[in-house]
Amino acid sequence: MTGTTDFRFPPGFRWGASTSSYQIEGAANEDGRGPSIWDTLCRMKGGVENGDTGDVACDHYHRYAEDVALMRGLGLNAYRFSVAWPRVLPRGRGAVNEPGLAFYDRLIDTLLEAGIEPWLCLYHWDLPQALQDLGGWANRDMAGWFADYAALCARRYGDRVKHWATINEFSVFTLFAYAFGAGAPGIADRNEHLKAMHHVNLAHGAGVDVLRALVPGASIGAVHSVQPCRPEDPGNPAHRESAALFDELWNLAFPDAQLLGHYPPRIAAAIEPYVRAGDMARIGRPIDWFGLNHYAPMYSKPDDGNVWGCGWGAAPEDMPRTDVGWPMHPEAFRDTLLGLTKRYKLPVYVTENGFGSKTETGADDPRRLAYLRDYIAAMGEAVRAGADVRGYFVWSLLDNFEWNGGYAPRFGIVHVDYETLARTPKASARWYAEFIRGQAGA
Ligand code: FCB
Repeated sequence: MTGTTDFRFPPGFRWGASTSSYQIEGAANEDGRGPSIWDTLCRMKGGVENGDTGDVACDHYHRYAEDVALMRGLGLNAYRFSVAWPRVLPRGRGAVNEPGLAFYDRLIDTLLEAGIEPWLCLYHWDLPQALQDLGGWANRDMAGWFADYAALCARRYGDRVKHWATINEFSVFTLFAYAFGAGAPGIADRNEHLKAMHHVNLAHGAGVDVLRALVPGASIGAVHSVQPCRPEDPGNPAHRESAALFDELWNLAFPDAQLLGHYPPRIAAAIEPYVRAGDMARIGRPIDWFGLNHYAPMYSKPDDGNVWGCGWGAAPEDMPRTDVGWPMHPEAFRDTLLGLTKRYKLPVYVTENGFGSKTETGADDPRRLAYLRDYIAAMGEAVRAGADVRGYFVWSLLDNFEWNGGYAPRFGIVHVDYETLARTPKASARWYAEFIRGQAGA
């Protein structure tokens, strides 16, 4: 891959950045917000590196206007954020929290005034703890509770927000939370995982119906993590089988159910007991776009300690890695984009892509800059070869709370000083802004 970025993307291409509520907002105990499962996990010993919490995060709740001004300065034309369910419904259902709703009014209005299109994601992992106490995603009633929450947001913001995503990375949070026991709520049980998978799919379908009914002119999508899943040792049949199962769990279980109407073969029989008559039609509601979060190819080999028997493998030693150890392979991004266009036949928006570092200290980030340049070039190659890609949102606007990793991994194109909360655009942000200007001038 050459890393050239002279390719002209189609007119109307969105150039944006992504964030999520728990990772940046802070103000965890303010204005009536209820606790989420991540507040709980952060307080469990060993739950999050360094005992970090999202209590303050980037304090975006108070500094959103500054953050929107930053985006405007960079020339972004779209911004993907998520609503914190426990901020608007502190107990997950029932009583509505007006100050929480009003925060997103302010954010959305400020974005629109800045000429930045708001892309609202309903669920980016911060489930209200009160719903977890009722079983969380392992409870089938979650689909209805999610639909009610979607309706609240649709009625409130649907006049101004036209781009909606139901859920972020279905496979990742269900795997980490219900199979690997790492993400909140920290469970490792195959049946709980299967139930959660199916109920998350049902919630997605119910959410799509609500958005379609309540938001005139809505453009509705779902955000999936898709990374090629390869055997650590391609010559070893057990590694190949492990990678194939991992591929189904990570890449296929959700989009196949939602867009092709069936679960992939290795999962289908196991999930069957939880699938009721009519469910696949409830899940497969038509949507308008495919949100792709892509970072790195994954490698797999068998692992007995894993409830599915398939675990992580090592990437080839000669493959370059990011500063957090993720393999870098822009060709895999290009091929993923081409593969998605063929398989699901929907316009694709890259809703996350970015570079993590645990070593960078300030605003000088040459490796992230090179990563973005090479990955955007690979996206250009995909478009040239026929992939239907309509937009790109870098992960992330700001350094932020990186889940179990706490604040040590930095993914922002804007540096955040966690002492002062000062924001400083990094070299990658300046490059991205320049690149967007070049595209606009084309
Ligand atoms: C994705 C998540 C996002 C962020 C990036 C690095 O899996 O959707 O919140 O943590 O990884």
